[in-house]
Amino acid sequence: MELIANRVSKLQEIMHRESFDYLFLGPSANMFYFSGLQTSPDERLQLIIVPAEGRPSAVLPEMYLAKAESILSDNFSLIPWSDQNDPFQLTASRIPDKGKLRIAIDNTLRADHLIGLGKVFPEVEFETASVLVDALRVQKDEQEIKLMHEAGKIADQVMLKVQNTIKPGMSEKELVAFIEFEYKKLGDDISFKPIVASGPNGAQPHHSPGDRRFEKGDFIVIDCGALYKGYCSDITRTLCLGQATEEMKKVYNTVRDANEGAFQAFVNNDQLSGEEADQAARKVITDAGYGDFFIHRLGHGIGLEVHEAPYLVEGNSTPFSKGAAFTIEPGIYLSGKFGVRIEDVAVLTDRGPQRLTAFPRELIEI
Ligand code: CO
Ligand code: CO
Repeated sequence: MELIANRVSKLQEIMHRESFDYLFLGPSANMFYFSGLQTSPDERLQLIIVPAEGRPSAVLPEMYLAKAESILSDNFSLIPWSDQNDPFQLTASRIPDKGKLRIAIDNTLRADHLIGLGKVFPEVEFETASVLVDALRVQKDEQEIKLMHEAGKIADQVMLKVQNTIKPGMSEKELVAFIEFEYKKLGDDISFKPIVASGPNGAQPHHSPGDRRFEKGDFIVIDCGALYKGYCSDITRTLCLGQATEEMKKVYNTVRDANEGAFQAFVNNDQLSGEEADQAARKVITDAGYGDFFIHRLGHGIGLEVHEAPYLVEGNSTPFSKGAAFTIEPGIYLSGKFGVRIEDVAVLTDRGPQRLTAFPRELIEI
């Protein structure tokens, strides 16, 4: 439990520096990161209370206590409540001075719980937890990177199985079912609902897979990832069923070059920002004449959540530092025709950037 104690003490340093009195966490990646407790949100209040100083506590329904005790009891005081109690009053009773407190709240806490807390802390304007937690979550340690690499390897294996399985006549939904099954066999779960977008559907970056059946000559965009011991991977490849036309090859190679260009930008500059990485990829696509068809940011941070800080987007001028893990996922989307996206997870290490997904990026015609 030393890992958790270390994380909490680093968090408390930041809370001091930023002048926060308390941080409240609900069931979330943040709760898991700072307490080790992995639980799902529901209508019963589950709240980790981290004070700027002293021992944190956990307000939990009595019926969840057995599970929590073994995980939390070293570092947290447990405050159980039963269904006939008011957990908000109980929370308030643990915090002596309710005046001008600064309290940060988990970004994903349920609205009914936030409203309940608002009633017992009438003078507090809650702020989002990002300012306190993101800087820590962004810096992955060696163990986290190892787990993320495992999650990346699983994604590579599933993509190879996809390559060996897809054929004309199979539907998008059938391939999604196959992908989910393979992830559950090889790892713990999927990190998000897989996207399979075939032919003209590929022109929508977040297409919902449907009944369309694959045809010879389709580009098929496959975007999926593993959940492994709490950590996510995220890979996209665009496979061609049959022979690609000259236009398909040109678009494909442009996206591949944009993916490589952004990665090389990190190799050449250890102070690269999210905005500069986005620009590096966007320049390749714009120079090839497809600038108007790259309609989303270059990528997102990844770790316990599949989308988290830091973002590779115009406006994020903060240099990325060691331990940052993120996706590089340029795409070109030609409405009514097809789309191409190539996505990898990369992490910044002592030895420079390293990709955690390694499935071939060259055009594959099946
Ligand atoms: Co993805
Ligand atoms: Co992604």
